[in-house]
Amino acid sequence: MDLSELEQKRIQHLLGGGKQRQEEQRKKGKLTAFERMNILFDPGTFVEIDPFVTHECSDFGMENKKFLGDGVVTGHGMVDDRLIYAFSHDFTVLGGSLGIAFATKVCKIMDLAARQGVPIIGINESGGARIQEGVDSLAGYAEIFRRNVKLSGVVPQISLIMGPCAGGAVYSPAITDFVIMTKSAYMFVTGPEVVREVTNENVTSDELGGAQVHNERSGVAHFLVEDEHECIKVLRNLLSFIPSNNLESPPRIVNKDDPKRHDEKLNSILPQNPNQSYDMETLIRKIVDNGDFLEVQKYWARNIIVGFSRLDGNSVGVVANNPEILAGVLDIDSCDKATRFVRFCDCFNIPLLAFVDVPGFLPGTNQEWGGIIRHGAKLLYAFSEATVPRLTVIVRKAYGGAYDVMNSKHLGADYNYAWPGAEIAVMGPEGACSIIFKHDIVESKAPEKKRAELAEMYRKKFANPYVAVSKGYLDDVIEPEETRERLIAALKAIYRKREERPRRKHGNIPV
Ligand code: HXC
Repeated sequence: MDLSELEQKRIQHLLGGGKQRQEEQRKKGKLTAFERMNILFDPGTFVEIDPFVTHECSDFGMENKKFLGDGVVTGHGMVDDRLIYAFSHDFTVLGGSLGIAFATKVCKIMDLAARQGVPIIGINESGGARIQEGVDSLAGYAEIFRRNVKLSGVVPQISLIMGPCAGGAVYSPAITDFVIMTKSAYMFVTGPEVVREVTNENVTSDELGGAQVHNERSGVAHFLVEDEHECIKVLRNLLSFIPSNNLESPPRIVNKDDPKRHDEKLNSILPQNPNQSYDMETLIRKIVDNGDFLEVQKYWARNIIVGFSRLDGNSVGVVANNPEILAGVLDIDSCDKATRFVRFCDCFNIPLLAFVDVPGFLPGTNQEWGGIIRHGAKLLYAFSEATVPRLTVIVRKAYGGAYDVMNSKHLGADYNYAWPGAEIAVMGPEGACSIIFKHDIVESKAPEKKRAELAEMYRKKFANPYVAVSKGYLDDVIEPEETRERLIAALKAIYRKREERPRRKHGNIPV
């Protein structure tokens, strides 16, 4: 049997767009599409399919620009011993641009992953729709988008952005569950040149759609990483919290952190002055297993913190107000951020844990005109429809609508606790007294003194957890130091929870 043709084709395939282009790629500090697959998968486990696919386009001299594999490497392998399907764009082939053969390869592995019920990882670096292939490229993208949507909430889909991504190449990642961007990557629908022509704005690619922009300003990305190796590290960590599909539970990672561990430092973690901030992330880390917390969207909408941790080995999705930023108020972006995270956890059977310290919603024309009503409604919608086990700890403030929204008992949370200093009321004492005692204050000889007295009275009566706990709206008031033990016990009690929803096509979340 003559194997030489196969060998030759294999060598040619591995060269992608050619040695020189691969060298250029390396000079920019980037790996090739094949090298990326090799660091993604456990050593020796990557199995490629469709290595010899080529396009059939003959317009614009394309008949002379055929590359085996057509610019995308696809296949399966193991990541930490779990089956994963992946594709990796090859920028050395026609700028990683997507034509119909390329798209068909990607769709094939998406279909295979769906049948197996395993995650799909996309390594993206692409100029978007392959211009020479015209409508075929657009058709190819739409086939991918349709599959992204069909598989949303069925198998996890994660996008790694490791270079420029333009046009259609950004929409598929946008539908996926998480976007991890390397520092030198960028994403935009239309590049700087078009922007200049249309709007007269002068921006660089980085200013327009760099990793920092999408991690800090747009909220498109979820993680910002230094380089491709760190990208894979973060991906592996992320996968460790997530099941392979929506019918499985997340992997349980048994660890040595005592489920009954108390941390006395929690008793004094809140400042004496209720208007002073403190570090919510430290609070979270003191409670969860081994202090491990993988924060998601760390740089965007920082007034809310979301991320993954474990309690007694079980994955939990944490949502916590952050008193260090805007006093932890809810605003448009923080509601969007938390909503998407809550929905992800609910899709994939990850229990939710809320730490509440929220003075309310951010007032102002900016917020009202921007639709805080609609955005805030999303978060209460997301918590209300979540059927996973749900825990809440009110550590300090829980005022107004924000009390309701932050996984309250009334939205269906299973166990709701408060620390002894919790303040739960329609609004803060000063604001409340200015309204309900307006006349008493105005008519008083010393209005400020009167306001302070009334506020103190209000605080004693309403701004405490004992009214809510006396009505069963909270299940208990707990000591800060015992929070871990109580949460683990509660989670154990509700871990097998099954909750049905009425039959319907889908709800209509106010997007
Ligand atoms: C065909 C493309 C291409 C594309 C890049 N190339 N994008 N070929 N179709 N969409 C080719 C280039 O011609 C070049 O080939 C090679 O890839 C490398 O590109 P460079 O421009 O040299 O690289 P770089 O300077 O790093 O810039 C990368 C880039 C830029 C930012 C991605 O190439 C770019 O702006 N491309 C066009 C992006 C774009 O407008 N795409 C939108 C398509 S419309 P040679 O042989 O010269 O080296 C779309 C609609 C989908 O995607 C809609 C879905 C909803």
